[in-house]
Amino acid sequence: RKPIAIVAAMQQELAAVLALLPDEAKQVYAGRDFWVGHLHGREVVAVLSRIGKVAAATTAAALIERFQVDSIVFTGVAGGLARGVNVGDVVVADAFVQHDLDASPIFPRYEVPLYGTSNFATDAALTERLAAAVRAALPAARLHRGLVASGDRFVSSSAESQALQLALPDAPAVEMEGAAFAQVCHDHGVPFAAVRTVSDRADDAAHGDFLRFIEDVASRHSAAIIEAFLR
Ligand code: ADE
Repeated sequence: RKPIAIVAAMQQELAAVLALLPDEAKQVYAGRDFWVGHLHGREVVAVLSRIGKVAAATTAAALIERFQVDSIVFTGVAGGLARGVNVGDVVVADAFVQHDLDASPIFPRYEVPLYGTSNFATDAALTERLAAAVRAALPAARLHRGLVASGDRFVSSSAESQALQLALPDAPAVEMEGAAFAQVCHDHGVPFAAVRTVSDRADDAAHGDFLRFIEDVASRHSAAIIEAFLR
């Protein structure tokens, strides 16, 4: 059976996941450390994508072409957007949109040129399994589902957050990688799912909230969810 990829953007989000692998071996490719090992009998490739859509696309392509993974699961943190999506809540993505993509008037705002769509869905079955793992691992956490917004911006002002909420009223959260993974996985027909713990509200307090959360909670949440997912 082909391996499954477990990805996070930052070291703090993946450290505790790597600690779960008893036998991981490092392979350096495309300037990244890919950790090949096992968890609950399943072959796993764990890697840090680094931050942003281009870094995410590079990582997704490497996982698919070089490591031949049969599916990709992303874990990490996000900024809460919609009302009621609060720090410590968990968001499982049903689809992704690039909130900073705008080729209008040639193409409608948000539409990925020549794909005829702005939204790329995650894999339904993998996403259900991931949501079930969240409920098992973090039974007290509030779980949100929906269209997650990705862009090459850390959203750190209430003004920008409110503009995003107006433009994408259904989006529970904003982050910087998911839409790139979703598009590359769509291109290759590889199932993709993503979970994000809310580290901040993408508002004027986002910077401090993010740093506090990433040092303290993010890694434990990621590890608990991934452990339950692969169990
Ligand atoms: N990831 C976590 N918080 C974020 C924010 N406020 N903006 C973009 N990505 C994030």
